[in-house]
Amino acid sequence: MKAIAAAVLLLALGGTSYAQTGDPARGSTLYHTTYKCTDCHGDPPGANPANDQFLIKQGTPLGIANAVVLIPDMSARYLGILDVNAVDLADLSAYLAQFAAPPLSANYEGIWWNSPAGSESGWGINFEHQGDIIFATWFTYDTKGKGWWLVMIASKSAPNTYAGTLYTTSGPAFNAVPFNPANVVSTAVGSATLSFTDANNGSFSYTVNGVSQAKSITRQVFGPLPTCATAVDLAAATNYQGLWWAAPPGSESGWGVNFAHEGDTIFATWFTYDLDGTPLWLVAIAAKTAPGVYAGTLYRTTGPAFSAVPFDPANVVSTAVGNATLTFTDGNTGTFAYNVNGIAQVKAITRQVFSGTGTTCH
Ligand code: HEC
Repeated sequence: MKAIAAAVLLLALGGTSYAQTGDPARGSTLYHTTYKCTDCHGDPPGANPANDQFLIKQGTPLGIANAVVLIPDMSARYLGILDVNAVDLADLSAYLAQFAAPPLSANYEGIWWNSPAGSESGWGINFEHQGDIIFATWFTYDTKGKGWWLVMIASKSAPNTYAGTLYTTSGPAFNAVPFNPANVVSTAVGSATLSFTDANNGSFSYTVNGVSQAKSITRQVFGPLPTCATAVDLAAATNYQGLWWAAPPGSESGWGVNFAHEGDTIFATWFTYDLDGTPLWLVAIAAKTAPGVYAGTLYRTTGPAFSAVPFDPANVVSTAVGNATLTFTDGNTGTFAYNVNGIAQVKAITRQVFSGTGTTCH
């Protein structure tokens, strides 16, 4: 009997427009009031350990319809009512979907900025995500408008949530030879929490020198977004996205360069130190010029203080200071050649790996 009912149901629903976008707000009313799903399921959905095991996972329109047909407790109330109402199924499903956690395998590696995209163009935050740790480099401006970068080693503190201490750093000038990592000094200035609602959206809340703020963030998209996961073979990667530093690893700990690699463009954010040892960051949009070679102009920017409300992107000023060329011989080996205000240098670079086998994107 059940099997026949299910077959009829699937046929009947085959022609209805399941794919329509449901209304989660109406779905909430249906869940709580109209159908009183809360008589057996949790409020919020997922909170009832006895009856919510598959509620969210199977909460598609078809999944709910099948539950009505197959689960006697639900059939008794809803058979022939809910299972044949495609609009209610879609709205309930849209409501339940809000409680679905992003897949645990989500890797947030890449460059992010304020959401909606472009609304606060001029500052950004890079994530190097390996295992349960996100190494974040935040590119912004100090209270005088000078470029300022801060770093955080954020550990997973809850599902899709990472938290840590924010540091500002001073060190040898970018052109110091040798660059002695012993002269790098880190100072804690606050803390931050990253929480993600899906693979491409989240929030960045922080306290810096007593100023507490929260920003909605989204990925900065300038080409096809790569997907990132635990590395199998760093050298084999043909997408160079990630955090790189001087080779051999640790030899010049204290500066680094993030590559966001989308399509044939690498957006490079280089965090280092000015001639006076204060934080300095420069950016380049490097286009592919030959296999494994990317080149572009290096810019230095000034802008509104990190704490400015509103942060007006019209007040960000970019000045070309030179150029950069990235040359990769494999997915984990390259050179970073640059000319900054007439100072030309070349650094051997490699990926910074701090957890497991690291991360690669493709
Ligand atoms: C009278 C109790 C009762 C009510 C009311 C009820 N359910 Fe269920 N439901 C169950 C039981 C029991 C299960 C099986 C336990 C499980 O899967 O976690 C279940 C499972 C489900 C599942 C998972 C199906 C599967 O494949 O395991 C979904 C989806 C679902 N219910 C949706 C709903 C929705 C939507 C409502 C309101 C329209 C609702 N339920 C109302 C008792 C109920």
